[in-house]
Amino acid sequence: MTRSQNSPHDTSPGRGNAVEVRGLVKHYGTTKALDGVDLDVKEGTVLGVLGPNGAGKTTLVRCLSTLITPDAGSARVAGFDVLRQPRQLRRAIGLTGQYASVDEKLSGWENLYMIGRLLDLSRAAARKRADALLERFSLTESAKRPAAQYSGGMRRRLDLAASMIGNPQVLYLDEPTTGLDPRTRNEVWEEVRRMVADGATVLLTTQYMEEAEQLADELTVIDRGKVIAGGQVAELKAKVGGRTLQIRPSDPEQLHRMVGAVAQAGLEGVAGARADVAEGLVNVPIVSDEQLTALIGLLSERGFSISSIDTHLPSLDEVFLAITGRKTSDSELGQDNIKLEEVAA
Ligand SMILES: Nc1ncnc2c1ncn2[C@@H]1O[C@H](COP(=O)(O)OP(=O)(O)OP(=O)(O)O)[C@@H](O)[C@H]1O
Ligand SMILES: [Mg+2]
Repeated sequence: MTRSQNSPHDTSPGRGNAVEVRGLVKHYGTTKALDGVDLDVKEGTVLGVLGPNGAGKTTLVRCLSTLITPDAGSARVAGFDVLRQPRQLRRAIGLTGQYASVDEKLSGWENLYMIGRLLDLSRAAARKRADALLERFSLTESAKRPAAQYSGGMRRRLDLAASMIGNPQVLYLDEPTTGLDPRTRNEVWEEVRRMVADGATVLLTTQYMEEAEQLADELTVIDRGKVIAGGQVAELKAKVGGRTLQIRPSDPEQLHRMVGAVAQAGLEGVAGARADVAEGLVNVPIVSDEQLTALIGLLSERGFSISSIDTHLPSLDEVFLAITGRKTSDSELGQDNIKLEEVAA
């Protein structure tokens, strides 16, 4: 999956930060839910906070929403300090929590109207905003039905609409698509992209590598309350290892000869070419553009005809495995982060 659907947002250093977190700590008894987290989210961009169950994602979102008080550290959101300016901060943010927060007994319209009133909108303004958001999230037809009758995807959309009522500058989306089917997930992604196109800054937590890849400009990987890696998606992937060069010979019969030619050439740092017979590809792990150029040059010199070449970055699942030394689903098992220092350094 590529990020080509994304509009690449401006993540240049000159831009202001909508969220700045320094040394944030939150302990629950002996559990270090947040253990000194630093992160920045530049205005108008999406930061993906990636981490397995129990990593501390929801705790981070709760601290940044002023729902809980950190034990140490500081955080500013939209210029407001979480500890000293909680009221102003709350007015600047929208939150879609991990668990749907709509009132089931109320209709979609009533849910949105109620939140508008809670945010001090006049009756007329709250009504207008509810209508507009239902329209935007394709819920107008179901506006009068109780939310209890909504499907999972409709609830999520209503949740997103609810978090937009106050026109927030900064939106927190805590695992917005967990449990949704792929079609509904895509709908939610589309909405998030629209919010960002309209100027919102988004802090998105997710356990899905694909989601981070689809939506995020930058990524922060957290595990057991600590940031273990960060950067742009491609940077993070590159950090973990090289790319795989995929070469398709015009004649599939030549797969094994091509593998042999790469092996015999003895190019520096190039080893382990493999034939993927089912796909008709030769896969070669590489770490530099020079290797790519040298390989292709060599193969054409030897008279191979090539129908396509492609380079493939490791998936984010592979990235997580490489950083933590374990799969994303193993978080609670208490294994050591064997490769942590090497990669995070
Ligand atoms: N209110 C609480 N009381 C005690 N421990 C808590 C509390 N909230 C969170 N924790 C613990 O803090 C750690 C981080 O939890 P958190 O909910 O932030 O993780 P998460 O990354 O959001 O996980 P998930 O992906 O499952 O939502 C976990 O070990 C959790 O058990
Ligand atoms: Mg959570």
